[in-house]
Order: sequence, then structure tokens, then C-alpha cells
Amino acid sequence: MNTFTTNIQLIYILAAACFVIGLHLMNSPATARRGNQVSTAGMIIAVVITLVLLIHDGTVTGVGWTVLIVGALLGSAVGLQAARTVQMTAMPQLVSMFNAVGGGAAALVAVSGYITGESARGGVLGTTTVFTVLDVIIGSVTFTGSLIAAGKLQGIVDSSPVVIKGGRAINAALAVVAVGSAAFMLTTASLPALLIVVLAALAFGVLMVLPIGGADMPVVISLLNAFTGTAVAMAGFVINNWALIIAGALVGASGGILTKLMADAMNRSLANIILGGFGTGDTAVAAVVTGDAQIRSIAADDAAIQLAYASKVIIVPGYGLAAAQAQHGVAELAALLEDRGVEVSYAIHPVAGRMPGHMNVLLAEANVPYPQLKEMDEINPEFGRADVALVIGANDVTNPAARRPGTAISGMPILDVDQAKSIIVVKRSMGHGYAGIDNELYTNPKTSMYFADAKKAVAEMTAAVKTLVG
Ligand code: TAP
Repeated sequence: MNTFTTNIQLIYILAAACFVIGLHLMNSPATARRGNQVSTAGMIIAVVITLVLLIHDGTVTGVGWTVLIVGALLGSAVGLQAARTVQMTAMPQLVSMFNAVGGGAAALVAVSGYITGESARGGVLGTTTVFTVLDVIIGSVTFTGSLIAAGKLQGIVDSSPVVIKGGRAINAALAVVAVGSAAFMLTTASLPALLIVVLAALAFGVLMVLPIGGADMPVVISLLNAFTGTAVAMAGFVINNWALIIAGALVGASGGILTKLMADAMNRSLANIILGGFGTGDTAVAAVVTGDAQIRSIAADDAAIQLAYASKVIIVPGYGLAAAQAQHGVAELAALLEDRGVEVSYAIHPVAGRMPGHMNVLLAEANVPYPQLKEMDEINPEFGRADVALVIGANDVTNPAARRPGTAISGMPILDVDQAKSIIVVKRSMGHGYAGIDNELYTNPKTSMYFADAKKAVAEMTAAVKTLVG
């Protein structure tokens, strides 16, 4: 290895170190922004050094440079615009589109590497063929799977589980075709065989995601994110690029861990999510309340009195808070209560909302102080001491039905909201949450329902607190 190559490799290691440190900083909301900056710096270093390498090697010609530069500028512009303008509730779709692009690009790198490298060697088994095949399969599945996942969340593709007649048999046949063609490539260099693998994997991606309900898409997107990372790492082996291998492995591993954490927080297995066809999103259906169960309503003035004269209030945010974009209003109400000497904290359930960290990101946007955000294990013992639990647009994550067997959410860890002395629930109706079941909390004698859009309700309560004297 000459000095130039050694220096390039060292700089790639520097870029990889930035990725690792950046990821570590993302462990806490307080340092997450810095983590993002450090990772971005790593990515800039990796891109610049790759360009230096290309110039040094002279592998890219005039037209190649035009394609490279125009492509990079176009991609950056689209990515920047999308990330800037996307609504927080549409973030999972955006991540899914990024996964599609990442997986697709990784597959293309392998195809191109195969055409220019191994297949050109004419039938000689290249040392990277296994990685090429894995890259092409995983990248292609991720490409079409992610497009369908984004389409389902955006409402372009039917978000209910789409049952395809003979779907499992077709999937099995596609897997046999892909693996068969891949095995053939290991002995004979064949571009047509590679293209058959690509087509089979593309079709597999579509058929894998279509039967999954729209509400399970965040977990599927996290899984596809892990696939993207794995495909990118394989691409790194194909073109012998360390930065790609390390970055891809980091994305693959963290995506895999996140997928497991999400599935665990819902007390469901990955197989149940992929094969279960569970959940089609929020239902607007009004829940039927049977027997002696009574629903008590509360208006802004009474809610304000309870909140303003409490010594401890725990706010429980959920998907409805995000949908209503009520985070700034909630932060204002909380600050007002704190000014009156009320101790305020937020109870954060790991799967509240529709994506990992949804509530943390939302509340950070409204500058809620980080120490007020308490994870489920930390806040649960505190509910017993709370005068008021103010539930805003959260449903399943507060449902005591999870504590007994036989319900759709049995075994899912929940926030112990029902332990508070008094409970106020803000939502628009008796409609269900993601799991589609009645919430027993709403008929608890300590619970009062505040039926309104979260943003409107919070503004009304804030105004009412302001009118209180003393
Ligand atoms: P949900 O159980 O889905 O309940 C949200 C509630 O918000 C609904 O009952 C809805 O009732 C209310 N709502 C909707 N829009 C509103 C608005 N504008 N104003 C006020 N309320 C509004 O939410 P959650 O408690 O956050 O639980 C999350 C669920 O999503 C869990 O079941 C979880 O397993 C699932 N999930 C989460 C993730 C991640 S990673 N977070 C991933 C996949 C699935 P109304 O219609 O009556 O207003």
C-alpha cells in the first residue's frame, strides 16, 4: 500500500469514527443535535475523500463527472427540500423514501461492479460474488418494499393488509428463483442470471409489504432501514470501500436493534408483525360503551382549576398531540402551571405516536426542557403521587386492558395513568387508537373526558388558567 492509499484509508477511518461518535451522541436528546452534526461532518469527509480518490485514479471521465455532479446536486436539493418541508407526522414516509433510495443505490453499485468487474473476467468466480448477490437481493427488496411502505402511509397504496391469493406460494417461488439464479452465478459469470435475481427480489419486496397493515409500517420501515444498511455494507465489500462497510454495518445494526425495541414495546414478535396483518391505522368509529360504564365530560374552566391548584401534574402525550400539532400549546400551558408552582413532567411511552422518539422530537421542537421528559420506567412510580394526569391524544399506551390477557394489546407495557388521583383525557371522540379497542381508562370514575381537538383544548385550558386569580 503506497502512502496515498494509506492516507485515504486513514481518512475513511476518521469518517467512520465520526459516524460512531455521532451515533453515540444521539443517545440523549440533549446531545442529539450535536450527534447529527458530527455524523454529517463524517459524511462530508467520506464524500470529499472519495472524490479525491476518483481524481487520483482517473477512473471517471468527462461525461462521468457531469453525471456525478448533476446527480449529487439534484439529490442534495431534493433531500434538503424534503427534510425541511416535511410535517412531523409524515416523517416515517420520508424515512421510507430515503430507505428506498439507499437500498436501490446499493443494488445498482453491485450491478455496476458486476458488469465492470466480475462478469468482464468471463466466467471466473470473483471473490466478491457472494456480496454482489446479497447486495442485489437485499437492496432490491428494500427498494420496492420501502416504496410500498411509504405509499401505504401516504394513502397512495391501500393501507389495509392487502391479501394476495396464493401470496405465500408466489413468495416461495420468487425466493427459489432468486436463490437458484444466485447459486448459478457462483459458478458461471452471467449477467442475465443477475438480472433475474434483481427482478425476483423487486417483486418479493412488493409482495412482502403489501399484506402488512398501514399501522405496522413504522416497524416495517425500521426493518427496511436495517436492510438498507446491510445492503450498503455489502456494496462496500463489492467496491472495496471501508467507509461504506462501516457506515452500512452501523445502520444495519442500529436499525435491527430499533426494530426489536419497537416490537418489544408493543409486546409483539417481528413474525407477528410481518405475517399478522394487524392494524389498519386509526379508526374513526365511536366506541360502544356498554353496561353501567359512565363517561364524564369536563369543560375548560373545571380542567383549569384542577390543573392550576395541583401540586404535581403529569402530561401524557400521544399520537393525537402530534396530529393536532399541539406541542407548542402544551409547552405554554406547562410553563404557565410551573409559574404557579405546579411540578410538571411528561410521561414518554416508547411507542407513543407513530415513530420511535416521536414525542421526544415533538416536544424538543417546542423547547420543553429535557429533564421534564421522563421515560416510562422512571415516571410510572410517580403517577400515584400525581394530582392530575393530563392525557393528550394518547390512547393505547394508557389502556389498562393491556394488563390482562385476551386483548389486542395484552402484555404491552403501559403508562400507569390510572394511578393518578384525577385523570383528564383530551381527544375528539370515543374513537379507538391504533390497536382498535376500547380504552377502559375512559370509564374509570377518576377520569373526565375533554372532547376536542388537542390544539384547541390546550389553548382553551391555557386561557382558562390565565383567568384564575391566586
Ligand atoms: P393511539 O393509541 O393511536 O391513539 C391516538 C388517539 O389520538 C386516538 O384515540 C385519537 O382519538 C386521538 N387523536 C387523533 N387526532 C387527534 C386530535 N387532532 N386531537 C386530539 N386527539 C386526537 O396513540 P398512542 O397512545 O400514542 O399509541 C401509539 C400506538 O401506535 C400504539 O398502539 C403503538 O403500538 C402504535 N405504534 C407505534 C409506533 C411507534 S414506533 N411509536 C409504531 C407502530 C405502531 P380521537 O379520534 O377520538 O380524537
